Amino acid sequence: MRIAMRAVVAGLLAPTLLVLSIAGCASSGDPASTRASAASTATPPGAAIASAHSLSTQAGIDIINQGGNAFDAAVAVSAALSVVEPVSSGIGGGGFFLLHDAKTGRDIFVDARETAPESATPAEYLDKKGELNRDRAMNGPWSAGIPGLPAALVHVAERYGRLPLATSLAPAIRIAREGFPIYPRLEKGYASRRQVMERYRGTREVFLVGGKPPRTGDLFKQADLANTLQLLAEKGHAGFYSGKVADQLLAAVAEEGGRWTAAELAGYQIREREPIKFDYRGWKVVTAPPPSSGGVALAEMLQILQPWKLTNLDAAERTHLVVEAMRRAYRDRTLYLGDPDFVEVPVAMLTDPAYAAGLRATIHPDKATPSVLLSGQPTPMEDDETTHFSIIDTDGNIVSATQTVNLTYGSGMIAPGTGVLLNNEMDDFALRPGTPNAFGVMGFDANAVVAGKRMLSSMTPTYIESSDKLAVLGAPGGSRIITEVLIGILGYDAGMTAQQVAAEPRIHHQWMPDAISSEPGALDAATIKSLKKMGHAVNASEGTWGNLQTVAWDKRENALSGGTDPRNPVGEAKVVLDQP
Ligand code: DON
Repeated sequence: MRIAMRAVVAGLLAPTLLVLSIAGCASSGDPASTRASAASTATPPGAAIASAHSLSTQAGIDIINQGGNAFDAAVAVSAALSVVEPVSSGIGGGGFFLLHDAKTGRDIFVDARETAPESATPAEYLDKKGELNRDRAMNGPWSAGIPGLPAALVHVAERYGRLPLATSLAPAIRIAREGFPIYPRLEKGYASRRQVMERYRGTREVFLVGGKPPRTGDLFKQADLANTLQLLAEKGHAGFYSGKVADQLLAAVAEEGGRWTAAELAGYQIREREPIKFDYRGWKVVTAPPPSSGGVALAEMLQILQPWKLTNLDAAERTHLVVEAMRRAYRDRTLYLGDPDFVEVPVAMLTDPAYAAGLRATIHPDKATPSVLLSGQPTPMEDDETTHFSIIDTDGNIVSATQTVNLTYGSGMIAPGTGVLLNNEMDDFALRPGTPNAFGVMGFDANAVVAGKRMLSSMTPTYIESSDKLAVLGAPGGSRIITEVLIGILGYDAGMTAQQVAAEPRIHHQWMPDAISSEPGALDAATIKSLKKMGHAVNASEGTWGNLQTVAWDKRENALSGGTDPRNPVGEAKVVLDQP
């Protein structure tokens, strides 16, 4: 068992036990990286955790120090994020947990995606003219799917953890009860969703003090959420999906004009699925299967790019090829992907290297392929809510998890008395096939809404492994999640450190709109000029996006490191070494 060391030692090697941290506010210089004194490549020399808030990273470290494994730590980090980052994820939402169990060598994908309630027929989301009712799709009870995250916490703890669920949930319960300081992203997100959020009694009760929403620096306490997490800790699945909390959720949905049934809540189950696996230039890539679109798209893009040594190309040539791979993968996302329990998804075909070779052959070396020639309709950008965390432990267990309530503060609606903010994941369905959703991503039959079905996701929790290195990564960002992970993998392949991967400038192309989005500084003026000459439209004025959290184990050096996205000042990556 490891012993907790409370002090955080940044950038130093301590002789015995070491906790080393890199926070999002730090510059993107040195990674949180440390090396064991006695080199051994069989298993990592300790544990590493990267998440979007220092309190959730610390919750995981505390559980490791109590003798927990990566799976116990994942429960602690996930639940703590639900408390400290309600703008992004929560127990009223869902997520995906990619696990590697070192003891059995198995890779497991825990699918805790929300499901469509029985009431959610396509007609319910259309207005009188037959157009998509965007308010229903994005706000309040009709926008919410049946939550999946509580079931995942119970499943991961009971099936894979070493500690009781109640122990791993304890840090989140304490933070909810004692409070934590509001930070700018919570305040700004609230301001942007205020009108919707304050429609709902339950939300007003949690967020308004003397009629005013919390401001940066205020202590934010969530007593009801603490009680709900406590019931989950004591009763497991039944603590959320039946009994008091379930009754409160059903009553809240009904009070606001929605329709959920007790049976569909009690019947919610996670699914364990086979991850997608493929090879890329000596790396084994293990990633998210449907109902995520991420793994299929990643397999297409990386296998298209496989023959090129990208680091040998100039920036314009490299960007052109990467963008052409992105364009083709996102076309397929739109047409083919959905919940595999309801539709036949041609995963084997789409992830076959021969299919990638066929797509590669359609890429002109120095001319953009207009997206309309690949058929389809327009799709604009997404913002950067949702949250990802990455964990490696000393036994070699791995967790790569992405969780979400979808848009900023989900549906905006908290069920009174529960502290549970409901998601607005229903907008990820193609509620009106062919009509773009909030962010302009669209779909057709494969992602049409059906009772009990899971909506298509872009969340792409992933890990990659070569003979020298293991890296765990993922990110929020809606449809940009997949390209963030792609760029991260290309960064690791080019020899970057974990922190460099988290900080890397990003570009994105999602087939429609037919334009490259570029973060400031990701492409220089000469590269943009060359790309335009090839026929690419380039939009370099959108600001930044994403919040990538990654940890890595260098097997040769026997060194663990973490990288937290500097775009998010409250994130933190920590490494804790075993005691010799
Ligand atoms: O599952 C998905 O793909 C989306 N609900 C994720 C949403 C997200 O990342 C929010 N930020 N853009």
